[in-house]
Amino acid sequence: MYTGELLASAKKVEAARDANLALEPARMTAEEKDSLLETWHPDYKTSEFEELRIGVNRGDKVPHELAALLEGCPRIGAPDVDLSKIDYDTDVLIIGGGGAGSSAAIEADKNGARCMIVTKLRIGDANTMMAEGGIQAADKPNDSPAIHYLDAFGGGHFAAKPELLYKLVNEAPEAIEWLNGLGVEFDKAPDGTMITTHGGGTSRKRMHAARDYTGAEIMRTLRDEVLNRGIPVIDYTAAVELILDEDGKCAGAVLMNMETRELKIARAKTVILATGGAGRLHYQGFPTSNHYGATADGLILGYRVGAKLLYADTLQYHPTGAAYPDQIFGALVTEKVRSLGAKLVNAEGEVFMHPLETRDVCAASIIRECAGRGKGVKTPDGSGVWLDTPMIEKKGGEGTILARIPAMYRMFAKYGIDIRTEPILVYPTLHYQNGGLDITPDGMTCVENLYAAGEVVGGIHGRNRLMGNSLLDVIVFGRNAGREASEKSKSVTTGALTLGHIDAFNRERAEAGLDSGTVSPKLLPTYTHGNPDFHKMPF
Ligand code: FUM
Repeated sequence: MYTGELLASAKKVEAARDANLALEPARMTAEEKDSLLETWHPDYKTSEFEELRIGVNRGDKVPHELAALLEGCPRIGAPDVDLSKIDYDTDVLIIGGGGAGSSAAIEADKNGARCMIVTKLRIGDANTMMAEGGIQAADKPNDSPAIHYLDAFGGGHFAAKPELLYKLVNEAPEAIEWLNGLGVEFDKAPDGTMITTHGGGTSRKRMHAARDYTGAEIMRTLRDEVLNRGIPVIDYTAAVELILDEDGKCAGAVLMNMETRELKIARAKTVILATGGAGRLHYQGFPTSNHYGATADGLILGYRVGAKLLYADTLQYHPTGAAYPDQIFGALVTEKVRSLGAKLVNAEGEVFMHPLETRDVCAASIIRECAGRGKGVKTPDGSGVWLDTPMIEKKGGEGTILARIPAMYRMFAKYGIDIRTEPILVYPTLHYQNGGLDITPDGMTCVENLYAAGEVVGGIHGRNRLMGNSLLDVIVFGRNAGREASEKSKSVTTGALTLGHIDAFNRERAEAGLDSGTVSPKLLPTYTHGNPDFHKMPF
């Protein structure tokens, strides 16, 4: 239910609707985009970043919040654990129970390896589950992986690692077939062909979806497959430190039971980090669309044993987080809402941009409208712009919203807002880390036998990701890591285990004069216990 002031503003949007619907907003030129990003995108706000003082990426700039964790104090010291007492012995240890971890486990199991998943929450408590709009794949006759590559490479500012992006787009059609075969209920036309739509920056309709809960549907299917295969899942158990062997190869992890804080040792021939993103670090004070456990743990664990980061200074702010009401502040309003025809409208009732520009451009444009041009709508938490959802029904016909984006309808209906007849208020929300651990196409980091997959990886998308390429990379690179790590495990002989890297890291900290009490990996967001010193607690 809108307040009187917001209702008055919404009326202006309603009055301009028919004229706005007929408008075909121009696309921005490359020069306009560059200047917009430099002035308004949060990645360009230099005061929000600092250079790392230790580790393999020393000198690279990362957000302050991430620097504090990468340079933070390890949760444990070598004397805290007895490495001769092995609690779990496996071929492939998978850390993280989201889409990438589950896909990896399925493939490793299929390849005959012993594998296990450890997850600090439960299997499926992950950003995969929260993904809404869809998954890209060039599998229609008017499309090709080459066109998909060009869209994604341009959208990512030509910074993607070519060999990773090549793999992503080429293996996309097979990924969809695999998911379809496992039982994902994709939206299909009566003749059985997949219904596909555009996303920001796509030149072809290649977004496959299950309504507007695509990630939940994919995660449901993957979780069933993991459990049906009998793959062990150790839940409420966090990895707090990786273990190397005497030759410097990754050989397991120290695990901590989240309830009892008991430490356990997992020895493995290969390890896959699939720990997801970092939205719960709330960079620059932004709200987030991410799940509760998205605290960058994999970056910390990997960095401490020498794995390189790529593009850790670039984040994705999804243009349309809910800006009203308070209860859903920052929650994802899927890009599919714009794919289906809703336009972005300012407080004056003006359409101020093409709704399907790439995400970074779209987010920066909304921020400019509010902070630079004074044309935002004032909300209890700041400001936002209108997303004119009733346009969808006008364009696609009555019933389109309930048929195609029922979750969006329900999310707002709970608060007395009917998106079929009323527009909604949106503002950018922290959604995705474009950067992460650097890998080669076989999924391995620069630390032997340490693999990474999913959002913890950097470089697949360059400096900005297109909608639907994340669910895709979770599947393509999750499966890839599972296959490669399980194959590699067949020839690995693990030497004596050591946590010597913790002492070396602590020495480096001391030499750099780093003495903050920030403990990492963080594991859970600070506000969970309402205690400002939570991050200093030994938990
Ligand atoms: O807008 C969305 O549905 C988000 C999709 C994505 O991040 O790929």
